[in-house]
Amino acid sequence: MAEQFVGLRSFSTKFGTRTIKPCPRLEGEVVPPGDKSISHRAVILNSLAKGEAKIDNFAPGGDCLATVKCLRALGVKIGRKGSRDSPTLLVSGTGEDGLNEAGNVLDAQNSATTMRLLGGLLASQPFLSVITGDASLRNRPMGRLIEPLRLMGADIWGRGRDSFAPLVIKGKKLHGIDFTLPVPSAQIKSAILLASLFARGNTVLHQTTPSRDHTEGMLKRMGASLKSQGNSISLLPLSSPLAPLNLRVPGDISSAVYFLVAGAIHPNARIMVRDCGINPTRTGIIDILLAMGARLTIDNERLEAGEPLADIVVESSELKGIEVGGDIIPRLIDEIPVLAVAGCVARGKTVIRDAGELRVKESDRIATVVSELSRLGAKIEPLPDGMVIYGGRPLSGTEVDSYLDHRLAMSLAVAGLIAKGETTIKHAQVAQVSYPAFWQALQQTLNTGKS
Ligand code: S3P
Repeated sequence: MAEQFVGLRSFSTKFGTRTIKPCPRLEGEVVPPGDKSISHRAVILNSLAKGEAKIDNFAPGGDCLATVKCLRALGVKIGRKGSRDSPTLLVSGTGEDGLNEAGNVLDAQNSATTMRLLGGLLASQPFLSVITGDASLRNRPMGRLIEPLRLMGADIWGRGRDSFAPLVIKGKKLHGIDFTLPVPSAQIKSAILLASLFARGNTVLHQTTPSRDHTEGMLKRMGASLKSQGNSISLLPLSSPLAPLNLRVPGDISSAVYFLVAGAIHPNARIMVRDCGINPTRTGIIDILLAMGARLTIDNERLEAGEPLADIVVESSELKGIEVGGDIIPRLIDEIPVLAVAGCVARGKTVIRDAGELRVKESDRIATVVSELSRLGAKIEPLPDGMVIYGGRPLSGTEVDSYLDHRLAMSLAVAGLIAKGETTIKHAQVAQVSYPAFWQALQQTLNTGKS
């Protein structure tokens, strides 16, 4: 019988296909992996600090491992406490002049955060670097990184008339800038801040819409002279090395969200997500789910190393459609694929606008979300900068594709939990980029109530 306590049947093929079936009850506890954005920053900034730092609960996905590998190639000693897959990193910070030219091309793999943050840093280091990535990353815009760095005096070039990776960087002494970010991108903001640490003169950045602020918070805690006032940030170059920062990385809300939406849209669910980061620059999805009528409660709020975290409980909810746009978009940009799944189940229309950035993520997420949810029977239309979803139509399982986009793979799994029959997701293994234990967590939560 299809409708049993088996929510997820997985079988591996060489393409990593997964098949999901609906289940009568979703119940359990999920501990999401360490936050990806915070992990990248923690290992990069601690590499520049003078001394040893311990990073607990470092994100296990391929993206953050790419950053670790690049930093090792630049001469930073990064070990693991205990076993090789321990989530605790030990970083021996080299201080300001400690990075060395890598012996080969650096590979950021699928990770734009790796490429852009390291791109900013390497523009300020006195040696040559070449950085590339996989086919998806080599198609993502790098002009937005190259342009401000050149205003700081950087020698940096990219393929396609300085639009794409691979990037070639001849590092040198830069000068600070006064710059307004044309897109609300935390990666570009962070790249400029990293370059500015070693520049001559101060840097002032203006944001039209604020984006995640983990770099700013961590730099302040490590002793940099950084001030945030309204939507502007000013940073003085380092006069002494950064102080190492020991921290425990909070759970990633961008990974937890698959369970939050699954719990809200499933008719018979209660899921507790533990130790989840709730930095206000990241919680747009919680605001929107609450506004859609989700039965979601936040408990046990606390601070760890300056970052807020909490336990979140979600229960089956009657969602209603909503309009999402404006300043909230950067606070939930990575959660829009799974928000679209919630929109399919909600009563009425959900409209997402001002999210043109979705077109330059790991896939064109407007095109891929619309195409794959349509295959499942959703009524969903693309907009140039978002999508319109006519909710309340039942979904029906079929074969869908992640297009090698981790967030699409996991969003389609959530859709499969409520679609009739079987949903088969091609290229599902790509979830490992941010959440290697996703399929296991889903299976265990569904089958035993624990993850
Ligand atoms: C990130 C910033 C966002 C986000 C990405 C992670 C970061 O990208 O989509 O997943 O860690 O700085 P943009 O900076 O391109 O908006």
